[in-house]
Order: sequence, then C-alpha cells, then structure tokens
Amino acid sequence: MERLQKVIANSGYCSRREAEKLIVSGRVSVNNKVVTELGAKVSDNDEILIDGVKLYKEQKEYYLLYKPRGVVSTSHDDKGRKTVVDLINTNARIYPVGRLDYDTTGVLLLTNDGELSNLLTHPKNNVDKIYIAKIKGILDVGSIKKLENGVIIDGYKTSKARVKVRRIDKKNNTSIVQITIHEGKNHQVKKMFEAVGHEVLKLKREVFAFFTTGNLNAGEYRRLTIKEVKQLYGMFK
Ligand code: URA
Repeated sequence: MERLQKVIANSGYCSRREAEKLIVSGRVSVNNKVVTELGAKVSDNDEILIDGVKLYKEQKEYYLLYKPRGVVSTSHDDKGRKTVVDLINTNARIYPVGRLDYDTTGVLLLTNDGELSNLLTHPKNNVDKIYIAKIKGILDVGSIKKLENGVIIDGYKTSKARVKVRRIDKKNNTSIVQITIHEGKNHQVKKMFEAVGHEVLKLKREVFAFFTTGNLNAGEYRRLTIKEVKQLYGMFK
C-alpha cells in the first residue's frame, strides 16, 4: 500500500505537490469514491480516476542528456523556448532531474520516475555534482578556502565543496576551475563564484552521481541501462 499522492506522482502524471492539490480539491477518486485526505493509501488493484479519467501508469523511462546551451530545463516553457524534453524522442511524461541554467551545458538526467527523481534531488542525499567553470580572473588561496568551507549566497551558507584550479590563462585573465558540490540551489555555482568576486563566463556539469557525458556530443542523449538504474537506487539503500 502506498500513499495516493505518491502513486499519482510516480505514474508520471504530475509532481507529488500537484497530486496533493488535486486530491484536496476533490478531483481524485479511488474505486469510485472521491478521496480528499492526503493520508489515504492505495494498492495496485485500486482504480484511481483524476477528473473522471483513469490514471494510466506509464512504463518508467530514464535518459542521460548532454544538455546543450540555449535550452530550458523544464518540460514546458511559458515563453515557448526549446526545452530539454523537446530534445528526447518519447511520448512519456519525462522531466529533468533538477535543473541546469539556460546557458549551462552537461550531464542531465530525465525520467518519469518520481521516486528516483526525489531521491536524487533531495538535499540530504548528497549526490555528487562536478562542474567545470570558466571564470573571470584568477582565484587566490583565500577564495579557494572560502569556496571549500562555504560562502553565503541568498542568506544561506553553502556546504563543503572541493575546488581545483585546472588552468590559468594570464593573458586573458581567466581560469578554468573544477568545483564539486552536493547541493543544487538555484544558480548555485555562479553565485558561489560571485560571492568571492569572480564572474562565471561558462559552465558545464561534468559529473552527476556517477554519470559523465561520455561519448555523447552536446544535444545527444542515451537511455540508461537497467543496471545503471539499479545502481542509482542502490546509492540510497
Ligand atoms: N549552478 C549554476 O549556477 N548553474 C547551473 O546551471 C548549475 C549549477
């Protein structure tokens, strides 16, 4: 038995929060009875209707996309811009696991598996994310220490990070810096560098969990293997 809102979200219909709203507003019925409490539990045999239409449980799909620059990390954009979901050839209601900015490139997972997506994005789960940033200027030792020990962004102190300077271009006064973080606040990497006085000129996510872009080119994607999906779930056991 599982909570109704979880079953709806895991089906790929919508997020758990949206499912809760649907339930509270009386749009969901289980075995022909409207259910408005959030504690209700259902089993696989129960028939769930939303606005009178049977909830269809999609097969789970999992993709690894090398996100290119110039696409938004949502399933729908109000301004009509191209989304990461548009790049993937599927009818499943997939969505990105977390976000990369419009101008950020790199590893992005997409799925309709709400449970896995929640596990991967929950701050307490500490999933590794490695970014390569091209920044203006050259980091001094003090700034590296600050980035590693936590800087204040939007009134919040970032947790421990690892920073490695990969290359310095003295002529153009830029550097290539690798930073490993475990959180996923909005524009986190850009804001962290800003907090120590360096603008991020380019940003790529090189690693998410144990995934890299591998042989993919920007804009290309592949399905995850069953083994990889199991390995992802295994991270949270
Ligand atoms: N941090 C950022 O600033 N932008 C991203 O896209 C991801 C992490």
